[in-house]
Amino acid sequence: MSRKILVALGSVALALSLAACGGEGAGDDSSTSGDKPADLTIGVSMPTQTSERWIADGNSVKEKLTAKGYKVDLQYANDDIPTQSQQVDQMITQGADVLIIAAIDGTALSSQLQAAADKKIPVIAYDRLIRDSKNVDFYVSFDNYKVGVAQANALLTGLGLLKADGSKGTATGPFNIELFAGSLDDNNAHFFFSGAMDTLKPFIDAGTLKVKSGQTKIEQVAILRWQQETAQKRMEDLLTKSYNDGSKVQGVLSPYDGLSRGIITALQNAGYGSAANPMPPVTGQDAEIASVKLINDGVQNSTIFKDTRLLAEQAVIAAEAFLQDKTPTANDTKTYDNGVKVVPSYLLPVVTVYKDNIKKELIDSGYYTAEEVAAGQAK
Ligand code: GAL
Repeated sequence: MSRKILVALGSVALALSLAACGGEGAGDDSSTSGDKPADLTIGVSMPTQTSERWIADGNSVKEKLTAKGYKVDLQYANDDIPTQSQQVDQMITQGADVLIIAAIDGTALSSQLQAAADKKIPVIAYDRLIRDSKNVDFYVSFDNYKVGVAQANALLTGLGLLKADGSKGTATGPFNIELFAGSLDDNNAHFFFSGAMDTLKPFIDAGTLKVKSGQTKIEQVAILRWQQETAQKRMEDLLTKSYNDGSKVQGVLSPYDGLSRGIITALQNAGYGSAANPMPPVTGQDAEIASVKLINDGVQNSTIFKDTRLLAEQAVIAAEAFLQDKTPTANDTKTYDNGVKVVPSYLLPVVTVYKDNIKKELIDSGYYTAEEVAAGQAK
């Protein structure tokens, strides 16, 4: 063959091999399986630092990845959608090898995820499913429907309609309750609410539970961005509008500790919390330290403990699998349809925490110390 043809063939081969690399520059092959951890960066995008759970999540993921020698780019987005989009864009341009994302709005990251897919960067949705995109490769979370069921059961137990073992309680009601849900743009909010409502509905239908405000649809009870102040305001409005006839709220379904604290503040400001006017059972989620103290003090009824250490560990396992060009192991391949595809998921179990199992679940497991629980503040 002439030298000219050889050169031409050589450039075809080069072009082909570049194309196989997804159009990236030479040497930037998207396979990371042979790379050392120190040469790999994991972008971790978290929604907000206003809630301690996400701070704990971010820290756990970062610690675990750093301990394995990876570089970590951890960013918080202040609950602001454009900020999160920009941070993820930047992670991509700065060469992240895997992305772990807890989305603020589950539908707002499609173009970022497309950019990641174009560069063959795997995307792991962390606790919150990212919707309307085919470019979500894996989902790590808890069994979110069961969280809702557990919240409803905690409310029924708090009211005495169920016993702690789940059998029928001695109370008969009827009880006035109010319902709260999370942010409508968070896929989880829908799972929590449907798990809870499926459990409460028979009691509502039987007249044992009465939602005095009449607000039973998720759109009526949702709290945008899971804001504590918004929940407090809604509870204040409910008290003024629906309980101005001397009747009392006797139970509140709350899907998240931050909302629960807002609800409790509104109730306390309206005089609830004395022997004559007791604090109704208010549920929660996340075992945030300020709420664990309230539970310990007999103010909040319960929370659903989701061990962020375990969630972080699953995210790290999934990230490592992708970095080694493997597929992470899912334990659920049916539930989480994001509107475009069913995303393979790894779901962790949840535990309901009341005052009497704070020690077993949260202190003995090393999640908090007894001092932190007493102080209501984590070190
Ligand atoms: C949800 C999450 C809950 C709670 C809430 C508010 O997505 O599943 O555990 O943290 O956000 O941050």
